[in-house]
Amino acid sequence: MKRVAILGSTGSIGRSALAVVEAHPARLKIVALAAGDNAALLAEQVARYRPDTVAMATGDGVDRLRGLCGGGAPATIGAGAAGLVAVATHPAADIVICASAGTAGLEAVLAAIDAGKTIALANKEVLVMAGSLVTRAAARRGVSILPVDSEHNAIHQCLYGRSRGEIRRLILTASGGPFRDYDAAALAHVGPEAALQHPTWQMGRKITIDSATLMNKGLEVIEAHWLFGVSADQIDVVIHPQSIVHSMVELVDGSVIAQLGVTDMRLPIQYACSYPERWDGSLPSLDLTRAGRLDFLPPAPDRFPCLGLAYRALRAGGTLPVVLNAANEVAVEAFLERKLGFTAIPRVIAQTLEAHAAERVSSLDVVRRVDGWARGCAREMARGLELTQ
Ligand SMILES: NC(=O)c1ccc[n+]([C@@H]2O[C@H](COP(=O)([O-])OP(=O)(O)OC[C@H]3O[C@@H](n4cnc5c(N)ncnc54)[C@H](OP(=O)(O)O)[C@@H]3O)[C@@H](O)[C@H]2O)c1
Repeated sequence: MKRVAILGSTGSIGRSALAVVEAHPARLKIVALAAGDNAALLAEQVARYRPDTVAMATGDGVDRLRGLCGGGAPATIGAGAAGLVAVATHPAADIVICASAGTAGLEAVLAAIDAGKTIALANKEVLVMAGSLVTRAAARRGVSILPVDSEHNAIHQCLYGRSRGEIRRLILTASGGPFRDYDAAALAHVGPEAALQHPTWQMGRKITIDSATLMNKGLEVIEAHWLFGVSADQIDVVIHPQSIVHSMVELVDGSVIAQLGVTDMRLPIQYACSYPERWDGSLPSLDLTRAGRLDFLPPAPDRFPCLGLAYRALRAGGTLPVVLNAANEVAVEAFLERKLGFTAIPRVIAQTLEAHAAERVSSLDVVRRVDGWARGCAREMARGLELTQ
């Protein structure tokens, strides 16, 4: 029996993770859950999974949760960063599924590593911001970071039994998002509704917009660098609209190993929970005859500059990826609020990167300081571009 804590249990990944737990009652048990603002759903999860520790992002959320749980409230209910850390370090937890959105989970992930927990990581922002700190802490503590992101999970599967020296390159697949075939003029006029319609995956809002700009793939390139210890030059991206090949590894002898599967996040989540075993899942089989064809195309850097910006930040290193991530979050939020055009998102990010003098990521304080600076700078840049395309 593995005991599980989930950061972000009310989100898209969190709910899929609970479905995996529910499919394996003899193997997985929930001990702690953390949510942001959705007290109603967390209260339902408390009634169903009976964790003894939960957390909400704010004190107001905690009050709402207590009201909803009544006499069935868990023994410990925390708020904010401390609440998230309490969930991530629950003494009984063997594995912590990190699926909170944004950057709030960084300290909690580091605390879970310090406490010796296995990390099932969905939250790529954590590695983009603080990859050196997180991977060093995990190596020091002998803790595994198992990727939940479907592409990195695929690569983890392809690399089973291989050494780093056998890798020629990693090939991350990308669906290309809903605007894959749009020309530059059409891209200038797309709004949030269209951008939120992902062709192959059902996900949270922020990652769905990132998929439309290809920044999601850019963040994944940085994530792959930290997870697998390969350089930017060894990571390629290929557009694969069907999202059936989840990613590939080319070995030094030229063999390419791919992982294929249905587009359902329960598969990578279950893999992270079961690793190194494989469990019989409740997931449907992949029917390749229904897919009919698998297409692979090069990305279009002129129409989707976010991918290039991410490569640039990774190559420059230091705090540049922190700035990339923060500026992207600010720009995506402004786009969702209709204050910024779709094609202005990469411009905000590029201008914020330009304004930053990179430094070494020597501590969490540096990450948080630069993150705060970048958000302020990006807000200013976004105001300057407001209502432009
Ligand atoms: N969805 C996917 O298929 C997918 C695939 C690969 C990677 N990922 C990554 O997984 C992470 C989650 O994605 P998602 O699509 O599941 O996002 P989502 O549906 O927006 O869910 C985000 C979760 O984080 C919680 N949260 C937000 N702020 C919080 C805070 N300050 N403290 C604690 N919890 C907080 C939310 O709680 P409330 O809802 O209660 O506010 C929710 O449970 C992201 O980093 C994303 O890049 C997602």
